[in-house]
Amino acid sequence: MKVLGVSGSPIPNSNTDRAVKAILNATGLETEFIKLSDYKFSGCMHCLKCVYTNKCAITDDDGPMLIEKAREASAIVIGGWTPYSSLDSRTKAFMERCFANRHLKGYMKGKPAVSVITYAAPEENLELPPASSMGQDAIMYYMVEEGMNYLGGVKVLGNVPCIRCGVGDTCPISGIAMLCGPTATVENVGVNKFENQKGMGDAVRLGKVIVEILAKNEVSEEKSCSKGEPNK
Ligand SMILES: Cc1cc2nc3c(=O)[nH]c(=O)nc-3n(C[C@H](O)[C@H](O)[C@H](O)COP(=O)(O)O)c2cc1C
Repeated sequence: MKVLGVSGSPIPNSNTDRAVKAILNATGLETEFIKLSDYKFSGCMHCLKCVYTNKCAITDDDGPMLIEKAREASAIVIGGWTPYSSLDSRTKAFMERCFANRHLKGYMKGKPAVSVITYAAPEENLELPPASSMGQDAIMYYMVEEGMNYLGGVKVLGNVPCIRCGVGDTCPISGIAMLCGPTATVENVGVNKFENQKGMGDAVRLGKVIVEILAKNEVSEEKSCSKGEPNK
């Protein structure tokens, strides 16, 4: 049994990466972590050639390898972030390419699945677009539409890039003031870390739920095998 964790964040050791890894670690099972920015792949071409083969027709990039990893996993955790309030393009392209795992075989059906979303626009500021829920929904609906067993999501308050860019306090269109108000500065806003947030507890809980579900699935598979029923 292997639990696959996928992060769409290109930032080294980002909040997104660490949240995905916290869920993987909480399972205590064999895991694999994939950082999508380490690979080259595009989105789905909608050619539908995968319908009868479950193989992606784009073969000159890392897509087929990533599709295979998702197919082979017993459970999957997908983490994304929210440029311009919606899900980032790498995570979206990964999910689109995994369309090849669908169709007659439905390889993702029933897999325990958890989402992670990292965002910077505070949820309580209703004047800003709801990045956290739009990002989380995009991952959740992919999982649900593929028939996975969606167990829940971890939301992580990340950092607006202006905290690190070097001109956050002087830039006329700084996101710091936009997100946190006119008196906000690089110093008084500070750096948000996943480990200090409620999401850390959610990550550990969801990791344990993955283990419970996999154990239940194993028992029901054993029962159906001992009754001579075909293995679904
Ligand atoms: C091009 C760009 C656009 C962004 N737009 C938004 C946005 O509209 N809403 C938001 O909540 N965060 C936005 N962010 C912030 C990212 O969500 C944040 O950097 C990401 O969650 C990574 O956080 P981390 O550094 O803590 O890992 C944007 C970041 C970039 C680079």
